[in-house]
Amino acid sequence: MADQLAVSVNFLYPGIILKGDAFAENGEKVQDGYVPFTDEKIAWLKARGIRTLYYTPSEEKSRCTGGEPLIPEETLEKGLDIAREVEQRLRQNAPLPTKEINGLIDELVEKVVPLKGTTLNLVELKNYDEYTYTHSLNVALLSLLMGKKLGYNEDQLKILGVGGMLHDIGKVKIPLEILNKPDRLTPKEFEVMKRHPVYGFEMVKNVYSRFVQSIVLYHHEKVSGTGYPLGKKGTEMGEFAQIASLCDVFDAITSSRPYKPAQPFWYALLCIYREQGKSFAPRLAQTFVKELPQYLGEKPIFPGGSFVKLNTGEIAYIPRDSRTIWPVVYLLINERREIPQRWVIIDLSLDETRMVEKQIFDEKLIESLKKVAQKFLDPGEAPPEWKLK
Ligand SMILES: [Fe+2]
Repeated sequence: MADQLAVSVNFLYPGIILKGDAFAENGEKVQDGYVPFTDEKIAWLKARGIRTLYYTPSEEKSRCTGGEPLIPEETLEKGLDIAREVEQRLRQNAPLPTKEINGLIDELVEKVVPLKGTTLNLVELKNYDEYTYTHSLNVALLSLLMGKKLGYNEDQLKILGVGGMLHDIGKVKIPLEILNKPDRLTPKEFEVMKRHPVYGFEMVKNVYSRFVQSIVLYHHEKVSGTGYPLGKKGTEMGEFAQIASLCDVFDAITSSRPYKPAQPFWYALLCIYREQGKSFAPRLAQTFVKELPQYLGEKPIFPGGSFVKLNTGEIAYIPRDSRTIWPVVYLLINERREIPQRWVIIDLSLDETRMVEKQIFDEKLIESLKKVAQKFLDPGEAPPEWKLK
């Protein structure tokens, strides 16, 4: 049985879905599981002085559901065991279990390379203490898939896999009260946290190649030069570290932490896309955003029936399930805040000036948008696939 997780009401946002019924401190059920929170519900919780919600996540093993998994269950279990073993050994100042790590990565590479399945079954967090293990394994899995999409050979993939598994090992030297703090870190605490790449580098420097070392040391560097610990710029940190950095950010955004709930895939993908040229090399960010969503399970990135705001200020409707962040949309409100006279259908994958900025979860706004949409429903005007949900 998974442990109960807590989430601060301050960190809820419209559209968030918790994977279990949510209860207030006094045991009162305040929200059904898998139902998105609306602006109204969040305001209601705050007005009642409810500060923390508790929920028990369902027993789903992967956050990417449906389809044929790429990695067998036993291999994932083995991966988690090895991640735990790595931490235990480091805490006892014992050498890294390199034979086990290399064996695991060989197995993962063997499963990912032929791309026989359809879904990259990223492991789901069961309780906050397990975060480092699930996160390390997920970063390894995502990095391998990225490497595969970039045409890397087996040796290069193994570097990515080992680097992904070990990228955060320096965190064993960070005090637990900082590592597991159920709130945002203070600037001082963040300075301590920022030492983990250097600690990790010390741990792998005599054990693994300079490529693996580069992943551990540089996975928080940014192409803009504003990352840490060294402020490396552009491509100075090398492509291996940049891939690990992308996968690290994606898994961190889409995972629950004591101080923040998990964000949906669309949110993480849009963040990565927007960060191209800043945190990430554009080519790598684009490869990630274009190639990986098809392996993130069968759930759409944007479900058909969603309303979204675009970067232009326009408001649009997504008529069909979309497995990319560039759906076909129908414009409901234009840049001048007017209702268009006729249908305007835009394929965002062909329009470089428009992007989805966010999904809309405000109930009142959705009600009025549905009324706007009715305007277009005159016979002969509405496209046949139009369905208001
Ligand atoms: Fe890190």
